[in-house]
Amino acid sequence: MTTDERRGADQRGVFVALEGGDGAGKTTQARLLQTWLGELGRTVLLTREPGGSALGVEIRRLLLHGEHVSPRAEALLFAADRAHHVASVVRPALERGEVVVTDRYLDSSVAYQGAGRDLAGEDVRGLSLWAVDGLLPDLTVLLDVPPGTGRSRRGDEHDRLESEPDAFHERVRGGFLALAAAEPERYLVVDATQEPQLIHRQVRERLTEVLR
Ligand code: TYD
Repeated sequence: MTTDERRGADQRGVFVALEGGDGAGKTTQARLLQTWLGELGRTVLLTREPGGSALGVEIRRLLLHGEHVSPRAEALLFAADRAHHVASVVRPALERGEVVVTDRYLDSSVAYQGAGRDLAGEDVRGLSLWAVDGLLPDLTVLLDVPPGTGRSRRGDEHDRLESEPDAFHERVRGGFLALAAAEPERYLVVDATQEPQLIHRQVRERLTEVLR
């Protein structure tokens, strides 16, 4: 065993999810986190949903760039992507003692397919929890942004979900905020209209407590 492997084996795996509306800046924050955690000597796995596994890349294409998908089929496809992602990528990394940072996780399904599409949030959450055998993040960072700001940051390219009207994205935003309010100990809500470095500092502060 190398020194790095030994150090990894001694450390507890930590699971962090970045959530928020489209254009909230999750990708930027994920990269900043990766750099900082690396400097702390942690092995970091940066991943995303949908599309964090080879099967997931196929599901992502069907979901975001295919034709209309009925709401229940959409919920099942996101859950299928998540099930395979957790089993083949996330859990093995956590078992190796790594920090896993995922760009979206099950709250995205509750917010988009539940609040957005009008399926029962409890059903969508139950489906995803079954898919991942109950795995919840140690910390979920909600990057909260008004739909109009998110839209202007995205530019002219919109996938199937991004093309939904602002009213849909308003419901999604409300869905995320309700989840965070129900379990404040597992969430950090950040105003994502702030400068990226300012947001990063708040995420670092909270994550420092979680890593202890
Ligand atoms: P994302 O990868 O964040 O988009 P991009 O890389 O293009 O910025 O997410 C893709 C879309 O999928 C986004 O509009 C949110 C949606 N989504 C759901 O509706 N449900 C889910 O469970 C997940 C994970 C994503």
